[in-house]
Amino acid sequence: MYDGDIDKILIGADELAARIHELADQISADYVDREPLLVGVLKGAVMLMSDLARALSRPVTMEFMAVSSYGSAASSSGIVRILKDLDRDISGQHVLVVEDIVDSGLTLSWLLKNLAARQPASLEVMALLRKPDAVKVPVPVRYVGFDIPNEFVVGYGLDYAERYRDLPYVARLKPEVYTR
Ligand code: IMP
Repeated sequence: MYDGDIDKILIGADELAARIHELADQISADYVDREPLLVGVLKGAVMLMSDLARALSRPVTMEFMAVSSYGSAASSSGIVRILKDLDRDISGQHVLVVEDIVDSGLTLSWLLKNLAARQPASLEVMALLRKPDAVKVPVPVRYVGFDIPNEFVVGYGLDYAERYRDLPYVARLKPEVYTR
């Protein structure tokens, strides 16, 4: 698959599965008396949503949202647009946002403000990956899969130009892929 495009596999499929099961156990315990509503952020979180939901030992419901940050200059201002909103009211629900990756944290902090205004009973975040810059912003990510270095990664939902989401692992691409 994608022969020759992959520079290095950073997190293998088995390692991803093991960590997701660990976090699922933790989440199942934390939500023992509450039914979480998983809010997946499209498209990057689809693989994680699907694996996480099946690893939890508690029933959950699922919703999806799609957002887009404006271009790189504007994204530093944290301006985000909703491409697809939730299908239902989340007031009084125990919302757990499921994110693929937190980089600058701007998308997530905007999203959390937006969701908090809808008055859920609780609001937490799970992110599969976190980059070093995210540590600088006050975005409360309760469950983190892996802290990774500041480099662009693809796979397991994450894309470059809409490709590579279907890779079963998280990887770094060869530099020449970006100059094609
Ligand atoms: P933030 O607002 O800077 O935290 O950006 C978060 C969004 O940027 C993520 O939801 C991804 O869609 C995208 N992103 C950030 N880093 C990467 C990466 O290494 N690979 C693929 N997408 C990324």
